Amino acid sequence: MPAIKIKTAEEIELMRASCQLAALTLKMIEPHVQPGVTTQQLNDLCHDFLIAHNARPSPLNYRGFPKSICTSINQQVCHGIPGPRALRAGDIVNIDVTAYLNGVHGDTNKTYHVGPPSPKGEKIVQIAKKCLDAGIRALRPKGYFGDIGAAIEAVANHYRCTVVREYCGHGIGREFHEEPAVLHYITKENGDTLPRGAELKPGMIFTIEPMINLGKADIRLMPDKWTVVTKDHSLSAQFEHTILITPTGYEVLTDLDGEYEKG
Ligand code: MF3
Ligand code: CO
Ligand code: CO
Repeated sequence: MPAIKIKTAEEIELMRASCQLAALTLKMIEPHVQPGVTTQQLNDLCHDFLIAHNARPSPLNYRGFPKSICTSINQQVCHGIPGPRALRAGDIVNIDVTAYLNGVHGDTNKTYHVGPPSPKGEKIVQIAKKCLDAGIRALRPKGYFGDIGAAIEAVANHYRCTVVREYCGHGIGREFHEEPAVLHYITKENGDTLPRGAELKPGMIFTIEPMINLGKADIRLMPDKWTVVTKDHSLSAQFEHTILITPTGYEVLTDLDGEYEKG
């Protein structure tokens, strides 16, 4: 298994910039998430914004992905392809932006309400955000990657929601997806009840991006070979941040508004 990279001070500075640009792209697009807008229009606004900031959208042509962002609506879990679908009041839509700037990637996503929230939409979006925050707040110096999934699954279970198991967070840097796979759930391997995974070390950078379902955890892949949906058609929501481990804690590199303390 290839080792988890420890980023240099120079790489960390570059990552701060690509991550802040990805977060700024989400802030730019938020007021455009309205009934009647198509996901293609959201795609084009994000694409042009990234190009105007000397960056590239990492998803475009990544393993054949045809667009510049992912837009995942309602029962879509992730990797929705922007197109002619117009958003309707009461929809929820996840927008996932990855910016490639000066040789490094920054990755973040949020789930938005379109018009006034539906009760179920409100619930799943709130719980998905709580799950991401629990994963982030579980990070400690000398902690383990396994702490992340344990914290996320505890919150999801508390609200009787489920965690998608097929897609994970990931190391990120010069490559879009690096080691390790960051699991959002607890694993039981080799008879251990709490496998802890690798130790967190200063200079590691990775995403946490739990996909949380209102119904069962099972998913299906659509015939377009990208769009992932819940098997039971229940709503699914997701939030994602890119995070740096520091000697004293962590820094959420895609936090634009100072929501998280820098540790
Ligand atoms: N941004 C997604 C992630 O969080 C990956 C999208 S891959 C794509 O890892 F090909 F669908 F763009
Ligand atoms: Co990601
Ligand atoms: Co992403």
